[in-house]
Amino acid sequence: MIDPKTLAARFPGDFVFGVATASYQIEGAVKADGRKPSIWDAFSNMPGRVHGRENGDVACDHYNRWEADLDLIAELGVSAYRFSIAWPRIIPDGTGRINEKGLDFYDKLVDGLKARNIKAFATLYHWDLPLALMGEGGWTARSTAYAFQRYAKIVMARLGDRLDSVATFNEPWCSVWLSHLYGEHAPGERSMDAALHALHYTNLAHGLGMEAIRHVAPNVPAGLVLNAHSVIAGSNGAADIAAAERAFQFHNGVFFGPVFKGEYPADFLEALGSRMPKIEDGDLDVISQKVDWWGLNYYTPMRVANDPSADAVYPATIDAAAVSDVKTDIGWEVYAPALKSLVETLYHRYELPPCYITENGAAYNMGVVNGVVDDQPRLDYYAEHIAIVADLIKDGHPMQGYFAWSLMDNFEWAKGYQMRFGIVHVDYGTQVRTVKNSGKWYSALATAFPKDNHKAG
Ligand code: FCB
Repeated sequence: MIDPKTLAARFPGDFVFGVATASYQIEGAVKADGRKPSIWDAFSNMPGRVHGRENGDVACDHYNRWEADLDLIAELGVSAYRFSIAWPRIIPDGTGRINEKGLDFYDKLVDGLKARNIKAFATLYHWDLPLALMGEGGWTARSTAYAFQRYAKIVMARLGDRLDSVATFNEPWCSVWLSHLYGEHAPGERSMDAALHALHYTNLAHGLGMEAIRHVAPNVPAGLVLNAHSVIAGSNGAADIAAAERAFQFHNGVFFGPVFKGEYPADFLEALGSRMPKIEDGDLDVISQKVDWWGLNYYTPMRVANDPSADAVYPATIDAAAVSDVKTDIGWEVYAPALKSLVETLYHRYELPPCYITENGAAYNMGVVNGVVDDQPRLDYYAEHIAIVADLIKDGHPMQGYFAWSLMDNFEWAKGYQMRFGIVHVDYGTQVRTVKNSGKWYSALATAFPKDNHKAG
């Protein structure tokens, strides 16, 4: 086993080790204190969408147990907590009336973090769009971007004096492609046209959200979280290498390009631009305004090959076989070198600010046996990937923090409660939390961490 102390010593003194969650995945209490449904309530209550027809009605009951959960984070000894704010608690209909009770919840949560000396990293949008906004078309409507801007302003006016960091969006790739093209996440749409509209309006909402944050809480470091894909060609053949480049632009370039260069990738525009909504004058300036940091969520590489069929739509790729035969219980290939090459590629292609690894982790579903959760494969996954982050720092990349996904087992979207990503086990019958062996190891890393260490690498 990699000694957590030795690994910790490779990080500089101001590095942040934290844990992450998201509102719909943990809170439950979906009808409490004026919250109205989100698109995820609607989606998960529709048969056939989520494994076992499960939903977030109760989840980890964090809404009621938040104090004990913050104590747990403090006991783990990590220095930061990344959580998301539920828009349908704050503005239940998406637009219109503000629900003070919703704001009160996050107010208490942030104060609770401060009282425990834990940094508060908030995400404004982790997929729980107020369902009422679907009446306008949800993310396929330009008006949703402006509704998001107002929501961002309201949250920052209330919490901005105490947040250590804020992100506009978590993984736009998921809320755009996975939700509107591949149909696997809410709202379950399968349409390229819908997805292309969601793409531009999500990017616009990020930019408008940044404007709101700068206006109301200029001192809070602000950024966005991207699940950039480490795209690897399935072979060295020219067709597969070209396919990998198209996949890079389609899965990464359409987010990184607008935000960090003020433009959509040329090949992508050539192939699909005519199906996009009108890009109004000034949109790309709004989208590309400066961010202070960006977050990378990384789990597994994306291996692609050329799709030779004549009617293949851009990016015209198919999946290529995994290289590593190590897979997590959700079926994702474990391949840590892809994290290294991904960060290198992105810093090579774009001018990027400092980076936090805002999510990284593994699904392994073992349960509690005699009070212990022996999840050695997860522990190995963490050790291997955190070592890569240390290597990146050694090579001079501005890596500032690392968040384990997740603090605790939770509602894993379309997979329901079947897939467990926590470093803390949750018994959904009793809501008892049990720190897994990986959690003990991560805690040892975070607490052994030499805060006065200035030698990185
Ligand atoms: C990411 C999500 C997060 C969690 C992990 C496993 O895509 O941001 O909410 O579901 O995957």
